[in-house]
Amino acid sequence: MKLLVTGGAGFIGSNFVHYWLSHHPEDVVINFDKLTYAGNLENLKDVESNPNYQFIQGDITDPVAVSSAMEGVDIVVHFAAETHVDRSILGPGVFLQTNIIGTQVLLDEALKAKVKRFHHISTDEVFGSLELGTAEKFNEQTPYNPHSPYSASKAGSDHLVRAYGDTYGLPYTITNCSNNYGEYQFPEKLFGLAITNVIEGKTVPVYGDGLNVRDWLYVQDHCAAVEAVLLRGREGETYTVGGLKDDVSNLEVVKMILQLMGKNENQIEYVKDRPGHDRRYAVDWTKINQELNWSPSVTLEEGLRKTIEWYQAHPDWWKPLKEKAQGFFAQNYKKA
Ligand code: NAD
Ligand code: DAU
Repeated sequence: MKLLVTGGAGFIGSNFVHYWLSHHPEDVVINFDKLTYAGNLENLKDVESNPNYQFIQGDITDPVAVSSAMEGVDIVVHFAAETHVDRSILGPGVFLQTNIIGTQVLLDEALKAKVKRFHHISTDEVFGSLELGTAEKFNEQTPYNPHSPYSASKAGSDHLVRAYGDTYGLPYTITNCSNNYGEYQFPEKLFGLAITNVIEGKTVPVYGDGLNVRDWLYVQDHCAAVEAVLLRGREGETYTVGGLKDDVSNLEVVKMILQLMGKNENQIEYVKDRPGHDRRYAVDWTKINQELNWSPSVTLEEGLRKTIEWYQAHPDWWKPLKEKAQGFFAQNYKKA
């Protein structure tokens, strides 16, 4: 089997490339990635010499490059995207270009290449926001109600994938998953930023009152969920994927990180809230659990311990990335 993985040099994509090559060593994996600020070939150093792995630097909005990468491909796993909500607030244009137009280009080329499956990686953010303190959760039937330029662009890409299925018969599946954390996460998202700030002796910025709730999914568990959908999922179906059963607020998560790292809560710094900040996400993962027998393998605490250990052991990986992101940090965290 030949897989085309888009965005394979990013956080989840690179974990997926590792995961697939180790669980399916007979398969060929082509990683197609533009190498934006978020793409990093350091993530893939240990698979570089694997004869079943190939890297192509290219942009998913470029039909010529995509068409050539698509040759002989059986399965497309589409991770490539602009992914950071705060960056989408500062500059939405590239989000629409990559996430919507890029997806459309891939869909066109996947149809021409007659791929057996187009798997689209999406997010729970397309569903909008839930009330704090309710038992309500997002599931496969939840209507779309995105609030940020990022989530609106991902919603657009999800609709396009379904439209290509309905209109042209493209065999597709979609997963809408919650917040991933783990190895190789760019240190500007909450977990990577919090852990590396603590290592550097800095404060951890918490937006607003810190009571916003996210569902946290360990990245290896997300890779296993995508594998389950590729191997056993039904064509034309969507699966929502989450890592938790109970709500955990951002403040509680940051306190867990501080406690696991032997620090106290005076390292928390409350900062200006994100505009349009969704209050609560919670994901019902019953369908993927019952149909495909998938469930998360680690608790939040176990996943956090692994993640903290990884960042502690890899300062050479994250320090240069934080350095490169200084311009973004200055803009995003500027005082009101
Ligand atoms: P990331 O930002 O770490 O990586 C994105 C990758 O896409 C990078 O390697 C980048 O170079 C590449 N890319 C960007 N624009 C491109 C283009 N025009 N052409 C080719 N490659 C391009 O992202 P991530 O956090 O690993 O997210 C991967 C996917 O999962 C995205 O589709 C995202 O929407 C989705 N998702 C992420 C999370 C999360 O918590 N990180 C949760 C749910 C869904
Ligand atoms: O829900 C899935 C989504 O999770 C993915 O689709 C996105 O690609 C991914 O970036 C992530 O989006 P979030 O906005 O939820 O993740 P982020 O790590 O940016 O923020 C997590 C929560 O923490 C959110 O409520 C905002 C808050 N936060 C974030 C940062 C960076 C802080 O309080 N302080 C911070 O400095």
